[in-house]
Amino acid sequence: MTALRGKHIVLGVSGGIAAYKAAELVRLYKKAGARVRVLMTEHALRFVTPLTLGTLSEEEVHTGIFPTNEEGSWTRHVGLGLWADVMVVAPATAQTIAKLADGTCDSMLTAVALSRRCPLLVCPAMDHDMYEHPATQANMETLRSRGDIVMDAAHGELASGLVGKGRLPEPPAIVDATLRVLEDSAPRRHGPLAGKTVTVTAGPTREPIDPVRYISNRSSGTMGFALAETAARLGAEVTLISGPVTLSTPDGVERRIDVETTAEMHEAVLTRSADDIIVMVAAVADFAPAAASTRKIKKDGQGRALELVPTVDILADLGARRREGQQLIGFALETNDGLENARGKLTRKNLDWIVLNVLGEDGAGFGPGTNKVTLLGADGSTISLPVLPKADVAAAIVHHTLLQS
Ligand code: CTP
Repeated sequence: MTALRGKHIVLGVSGGIAAYKAAELVRLYKKAGARVRVLMTEHALRFVTPLTLGTLSEEEVHTGIFPTNEEGSWTRHVGLGLWADVMVVAPATAQTIAKLADGTCDSMLTAVALSRRCPLLVCPAMDHDMYEHPATQANMETLRSRGDIVMDAAHGELASGLVGKGRLPEPPAIVDATLRVLEDSAPRRHGPLAGKTVTVTAGPTREPIDPVRYISNRSSGTMGFALAETAARLGAEVTLISGPVTLSTPDGVERRIDVETTAEMHEAVLTRSADDIIVMVAAVADFAPAAASTRKIKKDGQGRALELVPTVDILADLGARRREGQQLIGFALETNDGLENARGKLTRKNLDWIVLNVLGEDGAGFGPGTNKVTLLGADGSTISLPVLPKADVAAAIVHHTLLQS
């Protein structure tokens, strides 16, 4: 079942007695190496607890569309819809199938079903007569006609005591069907960014002082890697140019170029300067020692001044040579006067968007975990996102910048 390894599955659970089987399904997906995020309808909460599914999936379970905290305006359903490789609804009750068919959007489950960019697998479970009712059959036909995959319900004893068709297919059968859906939707290069070439830079650069010492910064590369992963997931042909980090290359990234110094990053970026989209997430060192010593500098009991010279500004260089239709996105890390400084960089470097991080704000900055950013557009727009996991920040950035043009 290694084909599920690393895959992102959004599992929607609606309110039928078979909801308890969702626990087994989550367990099987996780065992196969997939990541699972569970969405439950209000009615599903009556049958199985979010604690059970949250514990098994090791992810937060969502029910309502609105965030439970009052932070910001970013809508989670869009992020989840972009995150998923496949959305599975199991069990899908007659009511949820009807909502999916007519586009009702009254829960996180139905909202993600509408905003997703991935295939939908629907696994019905209900009483036999409800299943056979022309209304339900017509709704399932509507879903199939749109390209969604609707499994046949299994035959057997039903909770009502009746025997007939209406049982939820067994979890291993659902896992098999999920695998087939994923295989059918491969190769992945379809999606809203299909046909686009995207370069993302990530991590820090290092400027040597001598063979053992260097100047660098605290960038972990997490944000850039998350962006590269999101762009690849949405069909782009992604080149990831990275400074020294300990992260593995995300699935779907076409090529990775590892560099150390700013000059090496500049050279690597120039090989991709014709790409449709370039996102400079890297925390590029702004200064380098004027002359790196070829030998280890020995201590002599005295203090020492290090002469620094500016490095090349890669993004400004790209901005100066940018071609018609190319999109350039920069990042700005500020400790003070964030909006003003970032707007200055946006104009000076000739960018479409700049993503502002203010270091010191709760949940923002370097390292794994969360980030809090504001997007500033060349058209004057300002979009503030709340504190989010970096993968969701990446999805939000892509949604607001690359998918709007
Ligand atoms: N950048 C770059 N080359 C550099 C420095 C920065 O390409 N030598 C890019 C970064 O990848 C980022 C953007 O420029 O996308 C802004 O980086 P930041 O360090 O915030 O701004 P600087 O222009 O370096 O200005 P300052 O350090 O004075 O704030």
